Amino acid sequence: MSDVELTEDEFHRFIALIYRVSGVRIPTTKRVLITNRLRRRLRALNITKFSDYYALLTGPKAQGEMPQFLDEVTTHETYFFRDAHHFEWFGNEFLEEMQTQARLRKRPKGFKVWSAASSTGEELYSMAMKLAEQRAAFSGWDITLLGTDLSMASLQTAREAKYDTRSLRRLGPPERKKWFDPGATPETWVLKPEVKALAKFKHHNLLIPTRDGPFDCVFIKNVLIYFDPESKKTAVKHLIASLAKGGYLVVGPTEGIFSMLDPLEKLKPWLYRMPA
Ligand SMILES: C[S@@+](CC[C@H](N)C(=O)[O-])C[C@H]1O[C@@H](n2cnc3c(N)ncnc32)[C@H](O)[C@@H]1O
Repeated sequence: MSDVELTEDEFHRFIALIYRVSGVRIPTTKRVLITNRLRRRLRALNITKFSDYYALLTGPKAQGEMPQFLDEVTTHETYFFRDAHHFEWFGNEFLEEMQTQARLRKRPKGFKVWSAASSTGEELYSMAMKLAEQRAAFSGWDITLLGTDLSMASLQTAREAKYDTRSLRRLGPPERKKWFDPGATPETWVLKPEVKALAKFKHHNLLIPTRDGPFDCVFIKNVLIYFDPESKKTAVKHLIASLAKGGYLVVGPTEGIFSMLDPLEKLKPWLYRMPA
C-alpha cells in the first residue's frame, strides 16, 4: 500500500475538497505531508487506492469519514497561554470591565466568551484559569466560556482535558501544581475539575454563522492564516456578526484579516471592539 502514489490530479482534488469543506487552502508545497497524512487514513480503513478514498469522502457515507479526514489534514497546534499578553488583558482589563459594568447596572451579572477555533482547548482553559483566580468576585454570575472547532478529535481532547508537557510549556512548576493534577505518567497532566467545569466545547465550522452569540469576547487565533481571502471574508463576517455591542475581538498575530475589520474599533494591533 505504501507504494501507491498520489497523482497530481488526485492531490488537487483532495485539496479542493479540504477548501470546500473547511475554507483551509493547502499550499501545493504541502504535497508530501498531505500524501503521508492521507496514507494513514487509507491504512486505517484498509483502502488501497487514493481514488477510492476520495470516492468515500464525496459519496453517501462521507459524513462518517469527513471528521477523521479533516483531523489529519489540518493543524491543531496550541498550548496554554500562547501570546501571554492576550490572557493578561482578559484576566485584568476584560474581567474588570465586566465587574464595573455590572456594578453600574449596564449589564446583568453575566457574559459570554468564545474561543472560535479552540483546537484541544488550551486557549479557552487559559481564560478559565484567569476567571478561576477571581471566582469569589464572579460568584453567582451567568458565564459562558465556549470553545468550538471543526475537529471532533480535538474537541474530544478538550473535553477530556488531559494534556502533555508540551501544552504546558509556558507554565512553571507552581502554575502546573495550581491548575493540574498529575496524570498517568510524569509527562501527562489532568486539568483540575473546577477549571474544566467552567468551559464547554462544541463542533462548529467558521464558514457558517454561529447561533450561540452574541459574545462579549471572541478569540480568533492561528486559524484564518490557513484560509484564502474569500473564506477569510466569510469567516470574518460571521465573527463580527457574533459580537455583542461593545464586544471584543482578540486576533492572532498571523490571521491576515486586519483589513477586513473596518466595522470594529481598533484598540491595539490585536484587539478590536464592536462599537457600543
Ligand atoms: C492551530 S489551531 C489554533 C488553536 C488556538 N486558537 C491557538 O491559537 O492556539 C487551528 C484550529 O482551527 C481548526 N479549524 C480549521 N478550519 C476550521 C473551520 N473552518 N472551522 C472551525 N475550525 C477550524 C482546526 O481544526 C484547528 O484545531
